Amino acid sequence: MSKVTAMTFIERKKNHEKITVLTAYDYSMAKLLDENGVDCLLVGDSLGMTMLGYEDTLAVTMDDMIHHTKAVKRGVKNALVVADMPFLSYHISDEGAVINAGRFIKEAGAHAVKLEGGYQVKSKIEAIIAAQIPVMGHLGLTPQSVNMFGGFKVQGKTEQQARKLIDEAKMLEEIGCFAIVLECVPEKLARLVSEQLSIPTIGIGAGAGCDGQVLVIQDLLGMNKDFVPKFVKTYADLSSVIGSAVKAYCEEVKTGAFPEEKHTFKIDDEIINKLY
Ligand code: KIV
Repeated sequence: MSKVTAMTFIERKKNHEKITVLTAYDYSMAKLLDENGVDCLLVGDSLGMTMLGYEDTLAVTMDDMIHHTKAVKRGVKNALVVADMPFLSYHISDEGAVINAGRFIKEAGAHAVKLEGGYQVKSKIEAIIAAQIPVMGHLGLTPQSVNMFGGFKVQGKTEQQARKLIDEAKMLEEIGCFAIVLECVPEKLARLVSEQLSIPTIGIGAGAGCDGQVLVIQDLLGMNKDFVPKFVKTYADLSSVIGSAVKAYCEEVKTGAFPEEKHTFKIDDEIINKLY
């Protein structure tokens, strides 16, 4: 497989080839996903929940994101690594947005950044793209706006909201974004938006009409049974697999069944006898 770039995304859309995106937050998972052909690894600020145990993404810092992006990048050979800009890392000024986006490229080796929002962040996206950093947009349910939305709710259901979403998607394309995540948007609206753009849409809870899909890796692998959103398909039951493995390990340590002879290292009896 050859290296995926932001340009590959546009080519894929032209050729009607779907794009696969998964979140990744650490080296070993990134390596597995990359080796198994995922096009793009998103170091999402969802790591606030999956890795750090927060209730939402708002407390995630630039340093948290840089730390995890560096680890992901070390595991990747071919996938495009996109780093999510955390809350307040791009809202304050155009200059601040470029400095923080630049940190992801210079310090962490990311290939692109993602940031949430439409008109409100237009000048920030333009400034980042002017600095030659590819930007992935994000519309619909943008989790950093959870307090403005009054919860994690499907977006774009009214005519006014739907028109705004279409306008903002076109604006993001015009100013140079190479792709747009559409999160929790009605299926027919996401399809319409996708048909009107020449850059790909990457859906999460937005249906099959998008040009690609993204899921949080822990959701796909069934690692969190407490809450499974409607749009998630669970492809494995890792919480049961991990649970059984850990229980078996604890049992075998307690009974002495682990470690066995084959797990140990040797020393000459002559040396050991001198130590008694
Ligand atoms: O942070 C994240 O994981 C995301 C995806 C769900 C799109 O933004």
